[in-house]
Amino acid sequence: MNAKKPIDFSRLLTVGEVAHRAGVPVSTIHFYESKGLIASTRNAGNQRRFASVVLRSIAIIKVAQRTGIPLEEIKEALGRYPPGSKLSAVQWRELSSRWRESLDERIRKLTRLRDELDSCIGCGCLSLEECPLRNPLDVLGEEGPGPRILERP
Ligand code: FES
Repeated sequence: MNAKKPIDFSRLLTVGEVAHRAGVPVSTIHFYESKGLIASTRNAGNQRRFASVVLRSIAIIKVAQRTGIPLEEIKEALGRYPPGSKLSAVQWRELSSRWRESLDERIRKLTRLRDELDSCIGCGCLSLEECPLRNPLDVLGEEGPGPRILERP
């Protein structure tokens, strides 16, 4: 017989314990949970309880956020692994190297923007022909809404 093992709530963490051990406010735990980045279970009193592996997930989320990875991208990346599983060192290497590439790409785009902005400082022309940060003939606008200048290759 393969009966499902009952959850041992005494081994699970309260939201306050998770927040304390992770070094983040309780509101952050609730926010991550509301965004589907982490998950809890409920005890008989309908209180949230977390498996200790959530601490590693929170550490990964915080590192990713520090590098500017959007929450949706973090969620998508964590979703590649079974829910509630503790990411191994190898899996963390996979994730971090992927995020390194994303960070390099953003640095490249921001560096180009900074260099283009350099030629604007002290200029003020905002010329459609001369200014590299203007949107000549609204060409970028025709490509769609949003920060097109940041998203160009
Ligand atoms: S404001 Fe003159 S080049 Fe941008």
